[in-house]
Amino acid sequence: MNVAVIGSGGREHAIAYKLKESKQLDELFIIPGNPGTGLLGKNIDLDSSNHKVIIEFCKKYEIDLVVIGPEIPLVDGLADSLREKGVTVFGPNKNAAMIEGDKSFSKDLMKKYNIPTADYKVFTKNNFEMAINYLDEITYPTVIKASGLAAGKGVAICESKKVAEVYIHQCFNESLFGNSGETLVIEEFLEGEETSIFAITDGDEFILLPASQDHKRRFDGDKGPNTGGMGAYAPAPLVTDEILNGISEKVIVPTLEAMKREGRKYNGCLYAGLMIKDGEPSVVEFNCRFGDPETQVVLPILDGDFLELINSSAKGSINKNAISASNKSAVGVVAASEGYPGSYKKGMSIIGIEKAENENVIVFHAGTKIENNILKTNGGRVLTVASISDNGISNAKKSAYEAISKIDFDGIVYRNDISDKATI
Ligand code: AMP
Ligand code: GLY
Repeated sequence: MNVAVIGSGGREHAIAYKLKESKQLDELFIIPGNPGTGLLGKNIDLDSSNHKVIIEFCKKYEIDLVVIGPEIPLVDGLADSLREKGVTVFGPNKNAAMIEGDKSFSKDLMKKYNIPTADYKVFTKNNFEMAINYLDEITYPTVIKASGLAAGKGVAICESKKVAEVYIHQCFNESLFGNSGETLVIEEFLEGEETSIFAITDGDEFILLPASQDHKRRFDGDKGPNTGGMGAYAPAPLVTDEILNGISEKVIVPTLEAMKREGRKYNGCLYAGLMIKDGEPSVVEFNCRFGDPETQVVLPILDGDFLELINSSAKGSINKNAISASNKSAVGVVAASEGYPGSYKKGMSIIGIEKAENENVIVFHAGTKIENNILKTNGGRVLTVASISDNGISNAKKSAYEAISKIDFDGIVYRNDISDKATI
């Protein structure tokens, strides 16, 4: 099979890495890819917002499967455009990707179909006064979310009414997140432990991949601002078999059913961000794609043929036996640029990746580029250093940190406590 992966992050590097293991793979293309994916397949510098050129590429290179990594092309309808031309795609159509693209839609869906989630109210920009008045009716902390896409940064946990007022003002009147923040969801603060669950689905049937846990806050001890994710580990021991069954029954099955009933049949990876309290799941968010950096720790611990799994799923008849969970554990630490998630410098030379990598350590590229034959930083999240172990999370953590200590660039920063929650 000839396969094209759309995207350029650590997630897409991990997808490419896993696809590469499949005996069914002939040629692998990554559009546009990054220096890491360039070692696994051919990077093709095309703009995925231009559907016409992507379709032409797929026809010319006889692409059998397109895997769309990021949310933006999905929400933008790239899957629809490709399917209309007969290309097989892993990733939901635009009307199903709305489950991530519009939080007010996904909250209303959950309410309508009794899928557990925090209580909430939705306000639009023209209801500024109503939103402010609503702040008198609720308890604190409260959670305010930009309804549209905001790269994981549109959520504020507000400790007081004052802080909430400022955030609403910034979103509605100062365009903090542009159009994405013109509708806000104000929701109840949930206590508990978070986990990320990936359901691979053809729209009817699904399988769940091993549970993982992301670390969204910038600093150790879950302090500081929200980021796209500073590290992850899998499997998450928090999610016992019993809890996983509950997640299937109470969240995934009813959500896929709901999407079908609404005429939005979902094909791809449905990511459920969940809060678990007293063994019961509550949905914090849905995403229409694999998580980043969770993918970098979930895919390496799967046995079997990942290409078979997603291709069968994309074709509408998922082969649930294509993969299985191994006994391995993985910990991935994100090396970021100082200043992220705020402003940061780019163009710093990166050294030490060859020393860091070994048969159990993979360095996934995210914000990197090659300039005059030198690998340089090109983003906030630069690398994910993932370590895989047969001997549990603690061992994986130890070798992930040994590996990252061998890597350097000007302004390298990372959290030191990735996976501690699994072992305490
Ligand atoms: P989201 O982008 O919706 O996943 O939110 C980002 C992060 O904010 C989540 O991973 C949680 O840590 C936190 N968060 C979001 N919603 C809630 C909530 N209702 N209660 C507590 N924490 C939340
Ligand atoms: N790691 C969180 C996300 O992918 O949305």
